[in-house]
Amino acid sequence: ATADPAKGEAVFAKCKACHTIEQGGANGVGPNLWASMGKPHGHVPGFAYSDALKSVPGNWDWEGMDKWLANPKKYAPGTKMSFAGLGNPEERAALLLYLNSMGSN
Ligand code: HEM
Repeated sequence: ATADPAKGEAVFAKCKACHTIEQGGANGVGPNLWASMGKPHGHVPGFAYSDALKSVPGNWDWEGMDKWLANPKKYAPGTKMSFAGLGNPEERAALLLYLNSMGSN
């Protein structure tokens, strides 16, 4: 099946307790996620990221974002994102398209 960004928007319900994604949305428990694809780790001004996440080299590319969402604590040991991860690769693929559609393309 082809990954579907509309499905990704539905998957994003799992993230909304901690994240807004609209442009200019407030930081909450987690940072606003507008235009996060392609950006350096921990780029949102005013959000207190963990050193663990900020010290991961590189930017949020597709592969890194997929690994992060599969297992945040493996991608950035010591991260303060308390989210177990999304085990379903199709859900992650749809979610990546949704994230990319929100300000990054
Ligand atoms: C960080 C995505 C669920 C709390 C991040 C970042 C992304 C992200 C991309 C890094 C942003 C950046 O570098 O600017 C997601 C997605 C989720 C999800 C797509 C759902 C699948 C959650 C949940 C919580 C949470 C449920 C709260 C229980 C945080 C926190 C950070 C963070 C605290 C900062 C991590 C750190 O500094 O180590 N999230 N998140 N997230 N998220 Fe989430």
